[in-house]
Amino acid sequence: MEEGLKQRDVKGSIEDGHENKANLVALCLAIAEFNGGEISKKYITDMVLTMIAAAKETTSQVLTWIFYQLCCYPDVYAKATNEVRQVFVDDDPTPDTFRRLPYCTAVFNETMRVRPPTPVFFRFPVDDITLPDGTLVRKSDRIMLNAHFVCRSERVWGPDAKSFRPERWLEMKEPPSTFDFPVFGGGPRTCAARHLVPVKAITVMAMIIHRFTFRLEPDFVLKLKYGPVPCSKNGLPVIVDRVLPA
Ligand code: HEM
Repeated sequence: MEEGLKQRDVKGSIEDGHENKANLVALCLAIAEFNGGEISKKYITDMVLTMIAAAKETTSQVLTWIFYQLCCYPDVYAKATNEVRQVFVDDDPTPDTFRRLPYCTAVFNETMRVRPPTPVFFRFPVDDITLPDGTLVRKSDRIMLNAHFVCRSERVWGPDAKSFRPERWLEMKEPPSTFDFPVFGGGPRTCAARHLVPVKAITVMAMIIHRFTFRLEPDFVLKLKYGPVPCSKNGLPVIVDRVLPA
């Protein structure tokens, strides 16, 4: 990848005003230039790989899980479809469209809760620290934060914590804290895209629902493949039909 980085060419594409050629590498270079600093190829390579790993896998997984959950819960699918049909008449979506999709937003949140794309992440203390309950954590310790367990905890989510029930999000008086719903992490290193992801994912979900219907292949049995971003071992085989205009 480093070989492929031609800083002058990419800079040129921005300076020439060729917006359609702007990309993540160009953005890194532009920011470095704006700050008056140098930026190494290694830094850019690390940045791009982080973005691909942090952004692409997680977002594609949550969309896949949304359609898996919809196929498994036809009543939820029907409610989401009704909402999309009312909101999308013939309009193209705008960045504000998702605000008019409260039920789809609830489906997104509930899918993130029952199937967090990054179920565990880690902390490496820079110094020995004592937690509020008196537990000593040493500098050499590795702390694993388990979003999967918190998101399915009955203490946090009530007796139906393990059920997929998007309605719970519509019943809440205020959103849960990032520590009760740590799907984007918590504290100062929370996901940089935590506000962007719902806008993207809910809009894409609605656009797909608007145009297509999905059914799981009858023989499909979910088997998980574990990794930093767990996924279905055999993908999501579905039967797709186009929605015909009314
Ligand atoms: C469903 C989608 C996503 C999920 C579930 C997710 C989840 C997370 C989690 C759990 C963390 C670690 C937070 C922590 O340690 O406290 C994180 C960090 C991060 N995410 Fe995301 N993420 C998603 C999408 C994205 C996208 C689309 C981008 C970029 C466009 C992105 C960029 C980042 C970056 C840069 C960090 C590091 C933040 C830091 O260390 O300061 N993520 N994400």
